[in-house]
Amino acid sequence: MMDVNKRIEFFRNFLNPAMPMESIERIETGLKDLDFFNKPASISHHGMNTGDLFEHSLDVARNLVDLTKRLELKWDRSSSPYIVGLLHDLCKCDNYIHPPADTDPEHWEYNNATILTGHGEKSVIMALKILPLTDEEIACIRWHMGAFDDKGNWNNYGHAVTVYPNVLFTHTADMIAARIHGI
Ligand SMILES: [Fe+2]
Repeated sequence: MMDVNKRIEFFRNFLNPAMPMESIERIETGLKDLDFFNKPASISHHGMNTGDLFEHSLDVARNLVDLTKRLELKWDRSSSPYIVGLLHDLCKCDNYIHPPADTDPEHWEYNNATILTGHGEKSVIMALKILPLTDEEIACIRWHMGAFDDKGNWNNYGHAVTVYPNVLFTHTADMIAARIHGI
């Protein structure tokens, strides 16, 4: 497993071809403030180790970049596959914390004192504090769980896919990471 400095270096190199250094630094600062590079991707499933949220998000971004090339997907801004992939699960930065007074850096648990609820919506809110998002990016992050959402929202999800087909590929990229790559 990479240590945190390696993860950050990896992050910079990964984003380097996609956007100017100024934008990379802005995202890096926002993510460091959320302790993104250390957080786990879950508490009880796969990805429960320190740094796994970054590993998972990186894989989703890579899958989106790959799907974009192979399927010739069009995005409202060229760096969207990177931005959506890396930021889609930001809610987890707030939802998983070290237990107070616990000195074990590998021990994470649910935060029982969150103010914001939701998954995709919450990730959108947190991402918007780091950088402005396009409407397409907002839709992709909001609906990255696909139909794994309340049944009452299925119409909205379907409408999101119709207006922004990349919503469907974002969900696919997330499933490839979690269910096929096991990350
Ligand atoms: Fe995810």
